[in-house]
Amino acid sequence: MKITNICCIGAGYVGGPTMAVIAQKNPNIKVTVVDLNEARIAAWNHDDLEQLPIYEPGLDAVVAEARNRNLFFSTDVDGAIEAAEMVFISVNTPTKTYGKGKGMAADLKYIELCARQIARVATTDKIIVEKSTLPVRTAQAIKSILDNTGNGVKYQILSNPEFLAEGTAVQDLMAPDRVLIGGEQTEEGLKAIQALVDVYSTWVPDENILTTNLWSSELSKLTANAFLAQRVSSINALSELCEVTGADVNEVANAIGKDSRIGPKFLKASVGFGGSCFQKDILNLVYISKSYGLNEVADYWEQVIIMNDYQKHRFASKIIQTLYNTISGKKIAFLGWAFKKDTNDTRESAAIYVADQLIDEQATIAVYDPKVTAQQMESDLNYLGTRAEEENERFLMSIKDPYEACKDAHAIAVLTEWDEFKTYDWQKIYDNMLKPAFVFDGRGILDHQKLETIGFQVYVIGK
Ligand code: NAD
Ligand code: UGA
Repeated sequence: MKITNICCIGAGYVGGPTMAVIAQKNPNIKVTVVDLNEARIAAWNHDDLEQLPIYEPGLDAVVAEARNRNLFFSTDVDGAIEAAEMVFISVNTPTKTYGKGKGMAADLKYIELCARQIARVATTDKIIVEKSTLPVRTAQAIKSILDNTGNGVKYQILSNPEFLAEGTAVQDLMAPDRVLIGGEQTEEGLKAIQALVDVYSTWVPDENILTTNLWSSELSKLTANAFLAQRVSSINALSELCEVTGADVNEVANAIGKDSRIGPKFLKASVGFGGSCFQKDILNLVYISKSYGLNEVADYWEQVIIMNDYQKHRFASKIIQTLYNTISGKKIAFLGWAFKKDTNDTRESAAIYVADQLIDEQATIAVYDPKVTAQQMESDLNYLGTRAEEENERFLMSIKDPYEACKDAHAIAVLTEWDEFKTYDWQKIYDNMLKPAFVFDGRGILDHQKLETIGFQVYVIGK
């Protein structure tokens, strides 16, 4: 079966870039990305590519090439579903905030809504592709909804989880380590798998396209994120031990990373991992394990989250303690608010939690981030619900110029590893700060020797 028309429900961080690349690489397939969020779709259609709703290096060029050729962004969800032979579901699957599984399980209401909408609208057979990250066995629920419409339309469900990382999304999509496609191991299922393999094989080498059964594919996605997050928590756990023993976490990471069985990547100690997925996916894994009565398995993975929370808390406590245990009324400058560099995404960013703890002590936080808006920062902090919104407004300010943010501050905390922070005139920053001037490098990116020569008192995670 040759696919000529694809619909993707969800124009977010995954749906947008993924479909842009699929469209760019398959000029003969019409790809329509739909979303309920009108503002988001308008932004995807904006003439000025700087206004795309997502900042990803290289994305503007891909969109510019494919948009209105064979890539379309629309709010007509029904129309796009009906016209497509293949429908990707790429909607959000956040942690549940209510009811059974609150704070742990994935909230699948958006997924179910999509399945019901497809069931209601479709009049021709379709391949449904789970692009969102889902608990293992979700395909069964989607199938059960789709197979009970009684209108004779036939569906095949595939799992095709996305492994892109934000900030490198385009690069990851252009040259993925692997594409994973799971499907039913029946004749029809294998045909559907092949149809999706053909979409990817226009640019991904065959040996990088893995096909499995549905459940292996669904579970591999949660597992991959759990392993990645576990590496960060492992090195972060060691960072504290380094601090008290005189070892240097970078040297330790380098030494262990040379072991080809361990490998050098994902061993950077930090103020804690953030992002929309690591925490949510591990909590989901913990919940699934518990629901099968596998309590030891659940406890093992939960520890990754406990360690991460501890690391954020420990960083904030270090600031408070170093500033003589009193930061009330003091200005503390934050360099960075995004959860990692090269993205405007702030979901679960460590900066939010560190700010919250410092504001509890009545410090004033002046944030500079090259890509995050003031409104986003406010809403991130308000979302925690720790205090009244007016109070957050009083204690948190976003400053558009880094030198201005650091002016008259008692301390600077680096929360995101943006490259530009390394190139600042640190002498000028020092001259304009209150003394002693402290730097807390939560990302280990600055030239610490140089900072100390200038006169800064420097704290680096893991040293
Ligand atoms: P997102 O919140 O950026 O985008 C989801 C979009 O879906 C939103 O724009 C929302 O309006 C839309 N939506 C929700 N319900 C809808 C409906 N019924 N009809 C039409 N539109 C609807 O989320 P995201 O970051 O793109 O993540 C999507 C999924 O991909 C999640 O399951 C996530 O775990 C997974 N994932 C994310 C990343 C990442 O880097 N962000 C990477 C890999 C996998
Ligand atoms: C992560 C995975 O890397 C992707 O493969 C996956 O598709 C995605 O989650 C997802 O499912 O959403 P992402 O969260 O975008 O991607 O970014 P990462 O590069 O993994 O970074 C996550 C967090 O860990 C960031 O806060 C980063 O600063 C932190 N990190 C990462 C460290 O502190 N140290 C490291 O060595 C690596």
